[in-house]
Amino acid sequence: MTILVTGGAGFIGGNFVLDWLAESDETVVNVDKLTYAGNLETLKSVQENTAHIFVKADIGDREAIGRLLQEHQPRAVVNFAAESHVDRSIDGPGDFIQTNVVGTFNLLESVRGYWGSLSDDARAGFRFLHVSTDEVYGTLGPKDDAFKESNPYEPNSPYSASKAASDHLVRAWHHTYGLPVLTTNCSNNYGPYHFPEKLIPLVILNAIAGKQLPIYGDGQQVRDWLYVKDHCSAIRAVLQGGRLGETYNVGGWNEKPNLDVVKAICAILDELKPRADGKSYADQITFVKDRPGHDRRYAIDARKLEKELGWKPAQTFETGIRKTVEWYLDNTEWTSNVQSGAYLQWVEKNYADRDQ
Ligand code: NAD
Ligand code: DAU
Repeated sequence: MTILVTGGAGFIGGNFVLDWLAESDETVVNVDKLTYAGNLETLKSVQENTAHIFVKADIGDREAIGRLLQEHQPRAVVNFAAESHVDRSIDGPGDFIQTNVVGTFNLLESVRGYWGSLSDDARAGFRFLHVSTDEVYGTLGPKDDAFKESNPYEPNSPYSASKAASDHLVRAWHHTYGLPVLTTNCSNNYGPYHFPEKLIPLVILNAIAGKQLPIYGDGQQVRDWLYVKDHCSAIRAVLQGGRLGETYNVGGWNEKPNLDVVKAICAILDELKPRADGKSYADQITFVKDRPGHDRRYAIDARKLEKELGWKPAQTFETGIRKTVEWYLDNTEWTSNVQSGAYLQWVEKNYADRDQ
């Protein structure tokens, strides 16, 4: 048996592929365009593994994807491929529309063509799992209930709007064409192999490099943090037992204001790698101009997934963030390789006009 994963050289897709190969002997065809966020270094340990077939391709390339599907006959497709960074979507939304909306449309069409060519048994067993985000639900007030699957979609950024559009396409391909789809909407992930344009890895690497730790606005925006390996186990559970056409929210019950997250990282670094001058890394915290349209609070109600499929996260925020800091301290080769010229240009652009 074989599954096909898209975006498997990125943060979550990469972790998913590594975990999949560690836990099963089923082949993974890993299709990734290798944008700035795709990194083959993440997959170094499975380079020689014959159960891992990496192919550089765009999800929007119908010919390439159609050929791969016919060649490998996967029993499932898991779609991680996306433009994923909110700040970049504000700076330039075009790539987000192209990959997240048009790319998902083309992928659905390729998959629909392949699915239609399968035998009755294979058609019945086939799954298309679309990996999405809690940001499609918009923003919450401090006392609002956490997002349920029944919440209306109210995306606020070009990124979340493009993900919302892709979720709607996936839903429509199920209702209209009967494509056997599943959708997951997850909260903020963190953990190994996270590209350092995102808050947690950025703060860890800036701290040890003696740089500022930029906090947007007042730092009181709340995110619900989930250790990436727990997201991967949730996706495996939904792929195995999720009801067709359903969506499942995935979250860690770990709501934290950004400032608390940054202070927690500083406290762990103070213990594991104290600054030479004896001061705390928290002294490097700098408040900078806010992100336009910044969502104030996300929180996920993951009870449907827990009740129907028995999934629970294995890590608390405290255990997960410590593992993460340790991983970044131990994997300096990976971190220095991802901090390439293109990465440095982005950092300069994103933070240059943020007055303190
Ligand atoms: P990422 O940016 O780290 O990785 C995305 C991967 O997709 C990269 O390897 C990139 O090369 C690839 N890619 C981009 N465009 C492509 C295209 N057109 N064709 C093929 N490959 C392409 O993203 P991530 O953080 O790993 O997120 C993965 C998925 O999970 C995304 O769909 C994202 O919306 C969703 N998600 C992310 C989070 C999070 O906290 N990071 C939370 C919930 C949901
Ligand atoms: O909620 C799920 C989403 O989480 C995913 O769908 C996205 O793909 C993923 O990137 C993430 O989006 P966020 O915008 O929440 O993540 P980011 O790490 O960019 O920012 C987390 C919070 O920290 C957010 O409130 C903005 C803030 N922030 C971010 C950066 C990069 C800062 O205060 N300073 C920073 O330098």
